[in-house]
Amino acid sequence: LAVNAILLGVAYLLGSVPPGYLAGRLLKGIDIREHGSGSTGATNVLRTLGKGPAIAVLLIDILKGVLAIALVRWCYSLAQTQALATAAGSVASGSALDWMVTLAGLAALLGHSKSIWLKFTGGKSVATGLGVLLALSWQVGLSTFAVFGVVMAVSRIVSLSSITAAIAVLVFMVLLGQPLPYQLFAIAGGLYVVLRHRANIQRLLAGTEPRIGQKLASES
Ligand code: G3P
Repeated sequence: LAVNAILLGVAYLLGSVPPGYLAGRLLKGIDIREHGSGSTGATNVLRTLGKGPAIAVLLIDILKGVLAIALVRWCYSLAQTQALATAAGSVASGSALDWMVTLAGLAALLGHSKSIWLKFTGGKSVATGLGVLLALSWQVGLSTFAVFGVVMAVSRIVSLSSITAAIAVLVFMVLLGQPLPYQLFAIAGGLYVVLRHRANIQRLLAGTEPRIGQKLASES
C-alpha cells in the first residue's frame, strides 16, 4: 500500500512539472498565467511565445503522462519478478495493475493542472492526458488524437478539439474492449478535462474563442 501511495505521489509530481511556465520565465521573463487564456499548456504557449516553445512544451507535457504510466508498470513488473524469484508474496494481478495505472494517470492529470510548483494552477491536462492514453492503449491514444485532428482541421479551435476528443475517449475505450478501470479513467479524466475548459466553453458559446495561434479578444 505504501509503495502504491508513493507511486501516485510521484505520478502527481511528474504531472506537476511545468514546462509551459518555465518557457515563459526563461524565454521572456513573464508569468504565462498572466497572458492569453492563463493556461500553462502548449496552446497558450503558442499564442504567447511562439511555435518552437509550444512544440517543446507539448512534447514534454505528453511525455509526463507516458512516464507516469510507465513508472507504475515498471515497478509492478519488478515486484512481480521478485515475487517469482522468492516464490512468495502475492503477485500483482492484471486488474490490480490496471487500477493502479488508472489512478496514476488521474494523478498526473491533476498534477498538470494543479501543480504543486505553481500554487495549484497549471494547464488543462489535454497533452498529459494524451500521453496517459498513449501509454494505456496506443490504439485509444491514436484514435483520440485523430478525432482531435479532424475537429482541428475543420474548426481551427484547439479547445473545441480538446473537448470533443476528451468525450470521444470513452467511446474508443469501450469499442476497443479496454479494461473497466481504463473506461473509468475515460469518464473521470474526460469529465475533468471538459470541466477545465469552462472558460473556453463560455467563449465558444459567445463566439469569442480564438482560433489556433490567435490572441484572446480581451488581449488584442
Ligand atoms: O489544451 C488546452 C486547449 O484545449 C485550450 O487552451 O489556452 O486556448 O485555453 P487555451
